[in-house]
Amino acid sequence: MDTPGIPLPPAAGDTALKPGTFAGVPVVVTGGGTGLGKAIASEFARLGASIVIASRKAEHRDAGEQAMTELGAPVLTVECDIREPDSIAAMFDAATDAFGIPGVLINNAAANFPVPAEDMSPNAWRTVVDITLNGTFFCTREFGRRHLDAGSPASIVNIGASYAWTGGPGFAHSAAAKAGVKNMTESLAVEWGPYGISVNCLVPGLFPHEDMTADIQGNLAGTHDKDVCQPALRVGHRQELGWAATFLASPYGRFISGHTLVVDGANWQRRSLVNPTMVPIREQMGRGDFEM
Ligand code: HXC
Ligand code: NAP
Repeated sequence: MDTPGIPLPPAAGDTALKPGTFAGVPVVVTGGGTGLGKAIASEFARLGASIVIASRKAEHRDAGEQAMTELGAPVLTVECDIREPDSIAAMFDAATDAFGIPGVLINNAAANFPVPAEDMSPNAWRTVVDITLNGTFFCTREFGRRHLDAGSPASIVNIGASYAWTGGPGFAHSAAAKAGVKNMTESLAVEWGPYGISVNCLVPGLFPHEDMTADIQGNLAGTHDKDVCQPALRVGHRQELGWAATFLASPYGRFISGHTLVVDGANWQRRSLVNPTMVPIREQMGRGDFEM
């Protein structure tokens, strides 16, 4: 070791768990063709899992398929809109036909765009809550029912966000939905604990990536230097989220349930002696005066 203290994080491609930890385990990752979903799927793939990628857009699914194939993992991609329970059931049928009943569900798919609450249409609110909260529940319900019927243990990891606790000015819809996801994690962990189904939530801090939507990238662009704005003086490396997801779902994490693990370098905690000057959100977003 060159430096005193503890070693630096290993490079991408390294794994914390034993090789083959997920050998033969089918893992469903919703939204697994882009960004953090793809990163999480990659870490399961490195550990021997068969990967099922469920999402709406063919180009996203193709990107996920290519990444998993390059890692040598068996992969199935399925068109699925998580707002539609029938589409979810068909996805799990296809996954089970291909690889057997999935043992792990990563509820990663979500929707989000920045908009001041007073400018948000009812359908904009409904769309984000429908995908992020309702979709997560529908996938969880379908997965849970299949394991209750089979009597098999399983693991669910819901991807959350820290504004579940802090509120998310400019993201009221997504923040409310993620608060619901965190709370639902706690309810279902208890309901399904007796059947060996663990339910956890994993909260990413700031993990910029090339697949981020233009809206979200535009919002981040307003933060001129992302690293110096973080207590850890850096943003997350996507494999760090994947390592946490694989641990939570692994046999080594079996006694962890109902927990929300934050991987953000302490970014969501308060970090100043006094609050900065309040600038209204619509002003921060460069919007003009509100008009009915
Ligand atoms: C205001 C908007 C809007 C915007 C859409 N809407 N974008 N309103 N500002 N930027 C409104 C539309 O006008 C419409 O309302 C309603 O939302 C639904 O829009 P559609 O385009 O019809 O919806 P749909 O085709 O279903 O697409 C869903 C989507 C889209 C959420 C709008 O962006 C999407 O598919 N996103 C998936 C990927 C994603 O969001 N990733 C972000 C995850 S990152 P009206 O009233 O006009 O009908 C994340 C945390 C990041 O969650 C944290 C970073 C710090
Ligand atoms: P992303 O690249 O935009 O991924 C979102 C994924 O969700 C896409 O693959 C999309 O695929 C899928 N999706 C959206 N709506 C869907 C629907 N109705 N049905 C099925 N799939 C749908 O965003 P990301 O940054 O990787 O975010 C991944 C997760 O991390 C999300 O839960 C997000 O809230 C959370 N998060 C991210 C950050 C960050 O810094 N990146 C921070 C906090 C939390 P299709 O378009 O093909 O459907």
